[in-house]
Amino acid sequence: MSSSNLQNLLDKRLVVLVIGGGGREHALCYALQRSPSCDGVFCAPGNAGISNSGNAICIPELDISDSSAVISFCHKWGVGLVVVGPEAPLVSGLANDLVKAGIPTFGPSAEAAALEGSKNFMKSLCDKYKIPTAKYRTFTDPSSAKQYIQDQGAPIVIKADGLAAGKGVTVAMTLEEAYEAVDSMLLKSVFGSAGCRVIVEEFLEGEEVSFFALVDGENAIPLESAQDHKRVGDGDTGPNTGGMGAYSPAPVLTKELQAVVMQTIILPTVKGMEAEGCKFVGVLYAGLMIEKKTGLPKLIEYNVRFGDPECQVLMVRMESDLAQVLLAASRGELSGVSLKWSPGSAMVVVMASKGVPWVLRKGD
Ligand code: AMP
Ligand code: GLY
Repeated sequence: MSSSNLQNLLDKRLVVLVIGGGGREHALCYALQRSPSCDGVFCAPGNAGISNSGNAICIPELDISDSSAVISFCHKWGVGLVVVGPEAPLVSGLANDLVKAGIPTFGPSAEAAALEGSKNFMKSLCDKYKIPTAKYRTFTDPSSAKQYIQDQGAPIVIKADGLAAGKGVTVAMTLEEAYEAVDSMLLKSVFGSAGCRVIVEEFLEGEEVSFFALVDGENAIPLESAQDHKRVGDGDTGPNTGGMGAYSPAPVLTKELQAVVMQTIILPTVKGMEAEGCKFVGVLYAGLMIEKKTGLPKLIEYNVRFGDPECQVLMVRMESDLAQVLLAASRGELSGVSLKWSPGSAMVVVMASKGVPWVLRKGD
């Protein structure tokens, strides 16, 4: 390395704080620690695996729901970048508070996190900016919802507007199932306030694909492809989970499809969010359906974070200086950045405690 390059790197050395404590955050710590420009990684709260691996120093006592505690920690330890893993702290505004305190943060504001936090917000954005998605209507009144369902016929999809821990979607194969989902959300309030508005949506038939892009507010770069295994049992059987494993690359996401997704879904979303005055900074994780009848992608949902376990396979393939890339995103400087990936494949298998996905016993 030439002395000017070395000086450049030394000038850029960074201490990073990762927020969260799952496999996704472990993978981020692993890739950040390998970043040439990264001086040290903290993870709050972190977990035993992260601690034992030495990929980061875990801070279990730091209350990540208390923004002022996180800001004080950053000031005390010279943290130059915060990377927020899970959606909950984003939806509740941690990134807003950190940015206000002048701390570079990778992760969207609460307003931008509404892309995941409110399906109604996401669907309205799609309408306004002509982003392909399933046809839908939003309801707060059960009888109007049921009338619409009857008019449309089954199969049909019912969704709680807000965050419902991944359980707020019913793909109803019959009208009865659809009415029951409406009642449980609007009358019985099984998802609390998250279900006081429901989206009734056209059933899309095709192949599901996940798509990830890094976004800096104005620019977006696609990540390598990765796909999770959703069902709990071997041979793709049993109920859906958050993901029992993942692999990368995912052959279903061809270069051609990637270009179509960027042009028709990701870039219009980034521009739309900018035009709405809530620029998106962070990872856009799009759940897509490649429609059987057209072969074209439609947006099913957005998440405003890395998928887990998909992040795990992506981070072992990441060969760029992740700390610098995420810092560039947080500063609106992704234009011209390109990512380097290992050409190999990666896969991960999840071990889970008994009872997944219904009873999530923690601490094993
Ligand atoms: P979501 O929480 O929005 O990802 O939905 C959970 C799952 O429901 C998705 O991964 C799809 O398998 C399915 N799903 C959601 N919306 C639709 C739709 N409009 N048509 C068919 N399947 C859907
Ligand atoms: N693996 C799915 C998710 O992170 O939501």
